[in-house]
Amino acid sequence: MLVLGIETTCDETAAAVVERHDDGRATILSNVVLSQIAEHAAFGGVVPEIAARAHVEALDLIIATAMAEAGRDFGTLDGVAAAAGPGLIGGVIVGLITAKAIALVHEKPLIAVNHLEAHALTARLTDGTPFPYCLFLASGGHTQIVAVRGVGDYVRLGTTRDDAIGEAFDKTAKLLGLGYPGGQRVEQEAARGDPSRFTLPRPMLGRQDADFSFSGLKTALRLEAEKIAPLTDQDVADLCASFQLAVVETVVDRLRRGLKVFRQRFGAPSALVAAGGVAANQAIRDALLNLASQDQVALVVPPPSLCTDNAAMIAWAGAERLAHGLCDALDTSPRARWPLDQVGKPLPTDAGTAGVSPAIACPPAGRVGGRDARGPGESADSVSPNTARSVVV
Ligand code: KG4
Ligand code: ZN
Repeated sequence: MLVLGIETTCDETAAAVVERHDDGRATILSNVVLSQIAEHAAFGGVVPEIAARAHVEALDLIIATAMAEAGRDFGTLDGVAAAAGPGLIGGVIVGLITAKAIALVHEKPLIAVNHLEAHALTARLTDGTPFPYCLFLASGGHTQIVAVRGVGDYVRLGTTRDDAIGEAFDKTAKLLGLGYPGGQRVEQEAARGDPSRFTLPRPMLGRQDADFSFSGLKTALRLEAEKIAPLTDQDVADLCASFQLAVVETVVDRLRRGLKVFRQRFGAPSALVAAGGVAANQAIRDALLNLASQDQVALVVPPPSLCTDNAAMIAWAGAERLAHGLCDALDTSPRARWPLDQVGKPLPTDAGTAGVSPAIACPPAGRVGGRDARGPGESADSVSPNTARSVVV
């Protein structure tokens, strides 16, 4: 099963072609990512309007490059997947509408992928990790511990009560004048700093739930920085190292708790899996390895390039959904907000899908049940994109 994936939810314009083999293994045929860092750097963060315009300008070429690198043309695809949210709405619209156009013209199913689901399923793309597993999703907008029980079947066990973990890295970087993007810069500075120089809090440590909180840590760091301002290069490095250590120790404690909750509710997980941009951080990766070996659970952490935003994960999530007969109508809306537990599930074989509507089964876009949807005398132009929606095969 061959799927084109498109990612435009934040500041990466990305396209990829991924093949899902019948035995569930994956081959990434191409994975093209264009970062917009240069466009946003002067503003110290992502500017949504600039991001959306940059996606418009770059996306066609990025898709053409991904198709060329894969050595395939649109006709060979089994589906077209785009991240339909959550994310910056301007960018999401660009990616989703482009996917709709390709799906409609080439009569392929459209898969509107939840960006978080794509992060959640990446471990299956890279390592074929079986369900159920315990996911640590750590990105710029999310910090969650999730029980991943199947495609479309996610139970959130813990989340942040304020800032996301990547946001905490980014704000720390900004405060210390390290610019954007922040996470990588903080990690680089931390590598030459003294993590014991500043005493920073470990928020939520020891609590019974599996939630996170990072805003207090961020404030504590700011107060320490203000006490010793103006900062030398060594001060900045020491602050970064102290901050990173506080984050790492908090993450380990919260994940230990999350694994316990997972076992109580769902039995043994097949693995502890990390995903999202912050999982690219080597100190966090090392700590997870340690935790997993103490906790006697396998650890799966995709390579950094597949932890940060990319389109291979979108294509893969699209392929996983398509393999379950899940696709979406051409009038599917882009979503700025889209909690992971609200994605469509495969049609139920038992009860328990209340509150979540299954996605529709998969005719090619623009066709009904595999037949041409156009009525007598209708041109392709006159076919409403809604036509595909009325079909449930
Ligand atoms: O998953 P991602 O690429 O985009 C979102 O969906 O948010 O994650 C981006 C986040 C940013 O906050 C960035 O600073 C952080 O991941 N990040 C890192 C590292 N690389 C990226 N944080 C800490 N250490 C890193 N090496
Ligand atoms: Zn992401």
